[in-house]
Amino acid sequence: MKKPRLALLACAAVMAVAAFPACAQSASKLKVGLMLPYTGTYASLGNAIENGFRLYVSEQGGKLGGHEIEFYKVDDESEPSKATDNVNKLIKRDQVDVLVGTVHSGVALAMAKVAKETGTLLIVPNAGADALTGPLCAKNIWRTSFSNWQPGYATGVIAAQKGYKKAMSITWGYAAGTEAVKGFTEAFEKGGGKVVKDLTLPFPNVEFQALLTEIAAQKPDVVFAFFAGGGAVKFVKDYDAAGLRKSIPLMGSGFLTDGTLEAQGASAQGIVTSLHYADNIETPRNTAFRNKYAVTYKTMPDVYAVQGYDAAQLLHSGLTAVKGDFSKKDELYYAMGKTTIASPRGKLAFSAAHNPIQDFYIREVKGNYNVITGVAVPALADPARGCKM
Ligand code: BEZ
Repeated sequence: MKKPRLALLACAAVMAVAAFPACAQSASKLKVGLMLPYTGTYASLGNAIENGFRLYVSEQGGKLGGHEIEFYKVDDESEPSKATDNVNKLIKRDQVDVLVGTVHSGVALAMAKVAKETGTLLIVPNAGADALTGPLCAKNIWRTSFSNWQPGYATGVIAAQKGYKKAMSITWGYAAGTEAVKGFTEAFEKGGGKVVKDLTLPFPNVEFQALLTEIAAQKPDVVFAFFAGGGAVKFVKDYDAAGLRKSIPLMGSGFLTDGTLEAQGASAQGIVTSLHYADNIETPRNTAFRNKYAVTYKTMPDVYAVQGYDAAQLLHSGLTAVKGDFSKKDELYYAMGKTTIASPRGKLAFSAAHNPIQDFYIREVKGNYNVITGVAVPALADPARGCKM
């Protein structure tokens, strides 16, 4: 049995016999462990997620569901081999109540294993590993982002609708890339196309030249790519510098151009991607979020910031439903599953496997923005293959 860690419970006995001000003061603290990359190719993603999470907490006066939030942080370096040790720093050393993380699918898979073993609530604010809401699904594992399959599939729908017949894919050879390619291939081939070759390189390698030469030689109608963060910046620039941007259209899961456009500049113009967020969603909710984020952090938000913001919203919504009683886990998870969040991306509901059901937009890069030009697949749910809850 996992020990309840809330200061509230530790103080309960004392408070029953005396009004103990020190105890009362710390009574409602909830320990949140942020396990994110703060260094390496995904560092900007980790920072944006933390910013988004903290922004929502500050909008609630520093509390979620009535609890003050105490943050603990670990830089996971997007390094799967260190993931188990890192997550144990938060669970065993810091005794956190809730884990929020991470970006990299391989690291998240290790986190989920420990979360399952210990029963710790894990909210995944990015990593798309299909297994998290597939074979590894659990009542205490939630995701406010996407499964890797989702944006890959939506991009395949768009590529087929555009009439492309022959595609190549290029990505890092780990779950995020290979699963995105699988999703793309499923939809593209259903729509009459054929993926003729999958190219991979190890994460976080950015030596793309030999692979770009192969693409130029094969001359497909379209290239599907999964890269993100610093690697996406380098890939899009290299693709352009190799003279491919005008001759072979580049498409991808929207991470290819999200949070990266200032650095990619002219090389990204016109790239079409699919994602569950875009810069110009013209709703009061998104406008308010973007303005507040820009004022607070002196930079514009991206999809990662939205996912972090929504991780805090999901926790707040569940805790509010149980009147802040974090010990009522079954009721908490039931409430989280029933909630619909007013996300900057639009309405956000959760599948039985705890993965977002959401619209996947068609986006085109114009200037420094990913601009919506349509909806690729409305209310797309991950198939959750292998999930037995
Ligand atoms: C992943 O590893 O799941 C991932 C990383 C960056 C962006 C999207 C997905």
